[in-house]
This record gives sequence, C-alpha cells and structure tokens, in this order.
Amino acid sequence: MSKFWSPFVKNLVPYVPGEQPKMSRLVKLNTNENPYGPSPRAITAMQAELNDSLRLYPDPNGERLKQAIADYYGVQSNQVFVGNGSDEVLAHIFHGLFQHGRPLLFPDVTYSFYPVYCGLYGIPFETVALDEEFRIRIEDYARPNGGIIFPNPNAPTGCLLPLESIERLLEDNPDSVVVVDEAYVDFGGETAISLVDRHANLLVTQTLSKSRSLAGLRVGLAVGHPELIEALERIKNSFNSYPLDRMAIAGAAAAFEDRAYFEQTCRQVIASRGQLVGELQQLGFEVLPSAANFIFARHPERDAEGLAAGLREQGVIVRHFKQERIRQFLRITVGTPEQNQALIDVLTTLC
Ligand SMILES: Cc1ncc(COP(=O)(O)O)c(C=O)c1O
Repeated sequence: MSKFWSPFVKNLVPYVPGEQPKMSRLVKLNTNENPYGPSPRAITAMQAELNDSLRLYPDPNGERLKQAIADYYGVQSNQVFVGNGSDEVLAHIFHGLFQHGRPLLFPDVTYSFYPVYCGLYGIPFETVALDEEFRIRIEDYARPNGGIIFPNPNAPTGCLLPLESIERLLEDNPDSVVVVDEAYVDFGGETAISLVDRHANLLVTQTLSKSRSLAGLRVGLAVGHPELIEALERIKNSFNSYPLDRMAIAGAAAAFEDRAYFEQTCRQVIASRGQLVGELQQLGFEVLPSAANFIFARHPERDAEGLAAGLREQGVIVRHFKQERIRQFLRITVGTPEQNQALIDVLTTLC
C-alpha cells in the first residue's frame, strides 16, 4: 500500500492466475493449456511477420483475423470482435454492456474473473447456486438482472448446458445481454454462435488459448449482433486501438484456417480425457461429466488440498480452489497420455 494509491486502487481485489512455474520437468496440469503445440501453419504465418514491417502499426481492426473467424463460423465480419485474450474481451463486455444498476447474474461456482471485473467496473452482481450435481438450472435465472454470464462448458466444473436451455434463457431475458463464455466449447460442446442471428441479446466469447493452443499469443474473440460489437469497438478505441500485434493477427487467422490440425488435436484431447476419467474412477474419484479439456474430481476419503500438495512434491501441478463448496475437488488439465500417466502414478501412491 502506498500513499500514492487512489482509494479505488486500494479497494481492488485482483484475480490470481494459476501458477506458471519457472522449473522445467514439471507435469503442468493446472491452467488448462493444450498439451499439443499450435498449428504449424500458425507458426509459419507468425514467422513471416518477423521483418521490417514491424516498424509499422498493425491493422487496428484486425480485419484479416475477423474475416477468418467470420468464414469459419459463417457470420459477417461486423459480427466479430477480437481482443488481447478473451479476458480483455470480457473486460470490455463488463464495462460496455453490464453497467446498468441491476445485478449481473452468474453461477456461484464459475470463472473467478467475473467478480473481479464487477469490482473493477462497479457492477452489482448476484451469484446463482448450481444444483446439487453442479449444473446450471436456467429456471433459477428468472429474476431481475442487468445481464447474465456463464462459461459453457462451465469452469471449473466442465459441465455443459445444452443449446436449447441457452435459447430459453435468451427468450426469457430479451432486455438483458446474455454472454456465453465458450473458452472450452471445442472439447465437447456445441457453439451458441448458431443462435446469434436469431437473438440480438446474445454475445458468445471464445479464446485461442485452449483448443487452438495459443495461450502465449493472447487472442480472444466475441461474436454477436453488430450493435453489441460496436459497443465493444467503442470501448476498445477509447482504451487501446491496437490490442493485437502483427504476429497475433497473422497467427490467429492461420490457426482458424487450419481446420484439420485443430480437429485432430481436439480429438486427441477428448480421447485422453475419456481414458483419464476411467483411471481416476478406478482410484475411487468421483468425476463430474466434462465437456472441457480438464476434469473436476474429488476423492471421498482424501483431502483435496493434501492431494494437490502431494502431487506437487512429485512434480505434478493441478489446480485446487479454496472456495468452500468446491474445496474437496481438484481441477486437472488433460495432458498428453504420458503426462496423464505420470499423474495417475503419483495419485496411486497417495490414494
Ligand atoms: C472460462 C474462461 N474464460 C476465459 C478465460 C480467459 O482466456 P484467455 O484470456 O486466455 O483468452 C479462461 C482462462 O482460463 C477461462 O477459464
């Protein structure tokens, strides 16, 4: 704390990102990165940008990337917004579309950045409890609100809400923006982008950090009605006109163009997830049904914090949350078959 801090800064409660350890030789299953590298076409496209043109600013609108995303999803490029990671896209959404005095609604167990953005932008919020099986019940969202947001599949549970339920939520809340955060949708869900033409209150966000294996590049996007996108552009152009550099625009566009690589690596992660779930269950874990690249599991007889510490001692890092309702769970990123085996080997000694 410094005397130079404004009262606003003193009261901020920042997000705490998952650990990015410096040691090598760790089995890192704590921040839901993709164990397979990015598309080779994306790497080549980025390398091609490493030249004299770096003295020039990038395209402030990232048109090439917007068009690649629009082509991929069969929408218009004015329905697409791009930003520096989906966290930045989400920040602009909170700032531009949720500041209405009425409470924003999101699940009690969800992505922990949402309450942080509420604090940053002064947005009142109410959490809505997941049911006993950790699923979102849309009936529980039938209350006055200034917007609704949830990840689908949800994080850290991995549970998926079907598109029909999302459509009902949109119909029940015509005066609120409903944001579906699809950070993990490519690992087993169906995107709600197919609904944007029918619902002007829907905004779908995605990231290239997970299924496209570009967490280090920082690229995220939103798709929705052009008027919602315009609100985000207005904020972006009042904050930082160039959130994506030349490498990011080129690499992200190429990643969207390389469908075959994307589909193959997603299939590999999904297959490993199935195997890992089976092995965890054999060790006595209860595992929530996951449509994501991570698994949320608890052992009925072992303390989760102790298991996480025991794994860490053996060089395997997973994520443990201290929030009361989920403190007996571990969130485990699906790794390569070898990484998953290393996890199971250590857990076998601990359980
Ligand atoms: C649900 C959810 N949304 C958004 C993000 C942010 O992703 P990024 O800023 O890397 O695009 C994450 C990251 O873990 C996430 O879990």
